[in-house]
Amino acid sequence: MLDQAASKYHDPSFSHAVIAWQKQHGRHHLPWQQSRDAYRVWLSEIMLQQTQVAAVIPYYQRFLESFPTVFALAAAPAEEVMAHWSGLGYYTRARNLHQCAKDVVANYAGQFPSDPALLQQLPGIGRSTAAAVAAFSYGTRAAIMDGNVKRVFARVFGITGYPEIKTIEDDLWLRAQALLPETDIQAYTQGLMDLGATLCTRSRPDCPRCPLQATCVAYAQGRTAELPTRKPKKEPKEKHTLMLVLRHQGRVLLEQRPDSGIWGGLLSLPELDGMQELNPDSPMGDLLDFSSTLPEQSLAAKQVANQFGEVTDIRQLPGFLHGFTHFKLHAQVLQFNLAQLASQVAESRYVWLDLRQVGQAALPAPVKKYLMEL
Ligand code: ADE
Ligand code: SF4
Repeated sequence: MLDQAASKYHDPSFSHAVIAWQKQHGRHHLPWQQSRDAYRVWLSEIMLQQTQVAAVIPYYQRFLESFPTVFALAAAPAEEVMAHWSGLGYYTRARNLHQCAKDVVANYAGQFPSDPALLQQLPGIGRSTAAAVAAFSYGTRAAIMDGNVKRVFARVFGITGYPEIKTIEDDLWLRAQALLPETDIQAYTQGLMDLGATLCTRSRPDCPRCPLQATCVAYAQGRTAELPTRKPKKEPKEKHTLMLVLRHQGRVLLEQRPDSGIWGGLLSLPELDGMQELNPDSPMGDLLDFSSTLPEQSLAAKQVANQFGEVTDIRQLPGFLHGFTHFKLHAQVLQFNLAQLASQVAESRYVWLDLRQVGQAALPAPVKKYLMEL
């Protein structure tokens, strides 16, 4: 029985189109399609989780020659299993594979269960792999939802939103469950995989040949390039900047910020490189310790200061932290005293402001507070 939420997605014409297309145009000669032996199906599905078909084939064949049954694999030394996996990558898969074989021998007498819920409890088998193994090996009516199928569904049904977001993924699974055919689960499951791998590809879907074209929302609306929605770029959580306090006779140099962006249009302290993302992998990563980068930064800062006048004194002032909604700003501050102002600097975005007027000027609050404490 379909529940109400799923029944609104029920549509037998979807699986009919996929099955008819798979029988005529799908792949039928992949090595693992020549058998319904659950051990072979499972082995292929694990290898195919993060590796392309062409790369998997020779590994699959060598693996089966050395470990023709789940008993052989379970009994093999770990080093021998790892040696057969070497080159396929994602080696956690190999460790889970070996453990899974041992569990199937110990708990199921070497017979992979046909219930996806039980398969899913075994190491390395997620919801989609469990469904694929059950469907291909035993004809169990179970829904898959891997990266390729997500792409097909997102396009056909015009689903906006990154498919790995929980709400979107839940909706995809609901649809996949509601659209399962009553019969031909093998052809249907293989058909969805084949569609995603051969026609509905990421960058150049071959819509004219597609069995789902007549109902495909992305095709009708010319949105195949934007669906599925890409992963949202996450804002860096921490940024840093080097602010310059240039002083001359009780005045401080301020710079008008660009209209767009942080503190748009306000006057603020000049900054050396603007606000930089703090990348945990870069040498700046250990950021709360600025001392290592300061020498070269202060040289660059001095060159900036020199454009405004003759530098007589440089000192590092205490930095400050400011929390924005989406990130935290770490500001370092270098102070330069200028004896003589350069005459040729007349850019209007710079102003020399009397320190006593800071309280009334249009400055970002943390910068204003900082300057008032000087
Ligand atoms: N990717 C995942 N499972 C697959 C299968 N059975 N055939 C082809 N590609 C796949
Ligand atoms: Fe993918 Fe094009 Fe088919 Fe839509 S019509 S499912 S975009 S190949």
